[in-house]
Amino acid sequence: MSLDSVNIPAHVAVIMDGNGRWARARGKQRHTGHRAGVKSVRMTVEAAAERGVSHLTLFAFSSENWRRPEEEVSSLMGLFVEALRREVGELHRNNVRLRFIGAREELSAGLVKKIGAAEAKTAGNTGLKLNVAIAYGGRWDLVNAAKALASNVKSGALAIQDIDAKALSAELQLADTPDPDLLIRTGGEQRISNFLLWDLAYAELWFTDVLWPEFDKQEFDKALAFFAAKQRRYGHTGEQVEAAEC
Ligand code: FPP
Repeated sequence: MSLDSVNIPAHVAVIMDGNGRWARARGKQRHTGHRAGVKSVRMTVEAAAERGVSHLTLFAFSSENWRRPEEEVSSLMGLFVEALRREVGELHRNNVRLRFIGAREELSAGLVKKIGAAEAKTAGNTGLKLNVAIAYGGRWDLVNAAKALASNVKSGALAIQDIDAKALSAELQLADTPDPDLLIRTGGEQRISNFLLWDLAYAELWFTDVLWPEFDKQEFDKALAFFAAKQRRYGHTGEQVEAAEC
């Protein structure tokens, strides 16, 4: 199917899985897989921009990934710093706006500084909106939102009866971003793994056995073709949706 004329998702979220297995299958350390994964990140960002996706959110490190061996955690953190140093200039030249979501207070001062500088540099860019989730968990995000709502109620700024889905969404990390239309997960597992639990409510889910370091533009296009063939009903019947499209 040609992707030129079809429905492109406005927001694509990606769980990048399989770096460790890719490396092990080659008799290499897990870290080699993560390094190889950076190339797939670059390709996916390019593909998203070329295809007209407006928001791309990548799950780079979960709240639970802190449980990995210390050596792997610190090499991943080093890789994030290095990727920021190497890639931000090019992202900026391509008009990409970069933002980070997650528990920033858990990260090293050096990484937080790089993140802040990358966000500030690209803040005015109007092209692809790229969100990178580091030290992020969907439950953490929801707990924070609940705390913010409770605090607003306590201060009198919000009445309990005014708490609704819109009010809660406004307190989430991706508050000003449309919900993901499509979730891609590589690496063969079919689960959400505490990613954007609230935001993914109506996302189409696409899973591939391809390991993240082997994910490329062709695979990305397969996910877009899968999305284009879906009818999104949001609780309506198929007949209602077809009537509205006429
Ligand atoms: C999951 O594979 C991958 C990660 C926990 C890290 C993702 C990080 C990158 C792709 C590096 C660069 C990212 C950015 C944004 C610059 P896994 O280790 O769980 O693989 P496995 O399931 O095969 O063990």
